[in-house]
Amino acid sequence: MNAKLIVDRDFVVSELDRRIFGTFVEHMGRCVYGGIYEPGHATADEDGFRGDVLELTKELGTTIIRYPGGNFLSGYNWEDGVGPADKRPVRRDLAWFSTETNQFGTNEFMKWAAKADIEPMFGVNLGTKGPDEARQFLEYCNHEGGSALSDLRKEHGYEKPHDIKFWCLGNEMDGPWQICHKTAEEYGRVALETAKVMRWVDPTIQLAACGSSHRNMPTYGSWEYQVLDHCYDEVDFISLHTYFNNHADSAAEYFGVIELLDAFIKEVAAICDAVGAKRRSHKKIMLSLDEWNVWYKTHKIENMRVPGWPEAPKLIEEVYNTEDALIVGGALIAMLNNADRVKVACLAQLVNVIGPIMTETGGDAWRQTIFHPFALASKYGHGRVLKSVAVSDSYSAKTFPEIPYLYATVIDNPADGTTTVIALNRSLSDPMEVEVELRGLGTDRELVHATELHHSNLKAVNTKDAPNTVAPKVNNDVKIDGERMTIRLKPASFNVITTRATPVGNA
Ligand code: AHR
Repeated sequence: MNAKLIVDRDFVVSELDRRIFGTFVEHMGRCVYGGIYEPGHATADEDGFRGDVLELTKELGTTIIRYPGGNFLSGYNWEDGVGPADKRPVRRDLAWFSTETNQFGTNEFMKWAAKADIEPMFGVNLGTKGPDEARQFLEYCNHEGGSALSDLRKEHGYEKPHDIKFWCLGNEMDGPWQICHKTAEEYGRVALETAKVMRWVDPTIQLAACGSSHRNMPTYGSWEYQVLDHCYDEVDFISLHTYFNNHADSAAEYFGVIELLDAFIKEVAAICDAVGAKRRSHKKIMLSLDEWNVWYKTHKIENMRVPGWPEAPKLIEEVYNTEDALIVGGALIAMLNNADRVKVACLAQLVNVIGPIMTETGGDAWRQTIFHPFALASKYGHGRVLKSVAVSDSYSAKTFPEIPYLYATVIDNPADGTTTVIALNRSLSDPMEVEVELRGLGTDRELVHATELHHSNLKAVNTKDAPNTVAPKVNNDVKIDGERMTIRLKPASFNVITTRATPVGNA
């Protein structure tokens, strides 16, 4: 099959916000305990942080991490997780029916974040709590000193403010499963009032209001509109959550979910703009896709609850295969092509709980298949996303009426003269010969790397004993000729190709 991909250096979607490569750590299952934190583990440091997970987190290239939930957030008392560890209360977590020891909390996360070299993204509880706790928590975290709560932080051993910039106003408040679920009216009001007091405590923060928990929610669309009608002027972002599934067990159908994500992003942006238009506002609300991933094999009640209120039970430990990795790669392309509105995104979650990293408590850590497209996109995703025109045959599926076989994005980095093509071949049977035209990006071009993620078995997985079954390889089928390049993509493959050229003009 032949296809074309055309870009021009002057046609730019947006500067790429690196926060698009975020992930998520929730107090759920073995994400914290047995994931990032496991005192006594052979690789644990003096703070009890697993060294192997820390290394893999860095290799993943995640830039910002959302914490502490998730559904957990809506029943969380931040005060339980600070101060001397032996004085912290043990609580029942009603989100996941687990016992929370609170041995890991805000300050431990901030210490871990510094070691992992990531930006923190925190949430405030708007389920059982409200504006008062939110402003107090923010004062504890971000105020310099000289007030009761900032001095309490110092007393706890953290002299300098944490200076946490990004805050989520609750989690999935539209969902009936949420602890203290709210209507759009109730949530819109509380989001507005919480945002106001939080900004008065620290005017430098960015705030995200909860959008819909997924695109199939019955309140989808009207939820976003009504919530923003209340808090448009006080928030910077609205959130989107989405989990992809292959219940139909058809890779061709499955590829259509990437188009649905693109539609979801554009629809939410349009709703934000409708609220803005009604107010005659020049402000644009940005999108925070702060929970997204493949999740369906473990999306049953028995995967989410273990009887007996256990500590850190195995919950939703989804094992990912080749086709899941292709979907994750495709979703990243969709986000990148919408980089003018999607400024933050969090692959949910980081470790064990629907995670790109898997561990054994007391044992090894390894990379799941979905680790690879994320790590590649983050490693090479620097600069500006160009408007690309992809021309290829397409097919029709139940998930989406028109699915082009070629799905791609192009990122240009004037800082080092590199241009990166990220491309998915959605044909299950045919290799694809893609002719790429990089107009105006320089003719004296050299190949930096060409990497492909492909496995002939779409159900192949990585395990503790065979951790590299699905892993990136070199693609030797790249030809460069001036501004043109020809790349051969294997069927059902995710590809990242970087070339470097002498910059033209003042690029
Ligand atoms: O990521 C797992 C859960 O999925 C989160 O806690 C919740 O926000 C979502 O429904």
